[in-house]
Amino acid sequence: MSVVEGSRLPQVALAFMNEDHARAESLLQRLEAMIANAATDRESREEIGRLLAALYEHCQQHFTHEEREMERVNFPALACHQGEHARVIAQMDQACRQWRAAGDVGHLYEYLSILPDWLRNHVATMDHVTAEFVSRHDEVS
Ligand SMILES: [Fe+2]
Ligand SMILES: [Fe+2]
Repeated sequence: MSVVEGSRLPQVALAFMNEDHARAESLLQRLEAMIANAATDRESREEIGRLLAALYEHCQQHFTHEEREMERVNFPALACHQGEHARVIAQMDQACRQWRAAGDVGHLYEYLSILPDWLRNHVATMDHVTAEFVSRHDEVS
């Protein structure tokens, strides 16, 4: 089963978005599992650091890709969607910095617990509308 087939997230009209969302979901699940296992030993903490960095990098690249597509087709709600990406990536950057500085599992858990709902909601709303617009634009041009 591919990562996308195993995803519980709503599917949108562009394949690259579905693939990226499933990858983010998988990284989040791996992070949750590490934290749920009371990851206080050094190896687990290092793995959490690697997963967090991978999630951050993945989201940054994914957001940039979506924004490039929105620019290419002159998507009218680009600024709104881009603003939401900027807000979330700033929060994620802050969470990564806090983890590196203090390594507080409880704090990280609290931050991560809001992300699955955010991801599902973002995919179902802004990403859904964006993917429809981009795919229709490409169908007629
Ligand atoms: Fe997305
Ligand atoms: Fe998005």
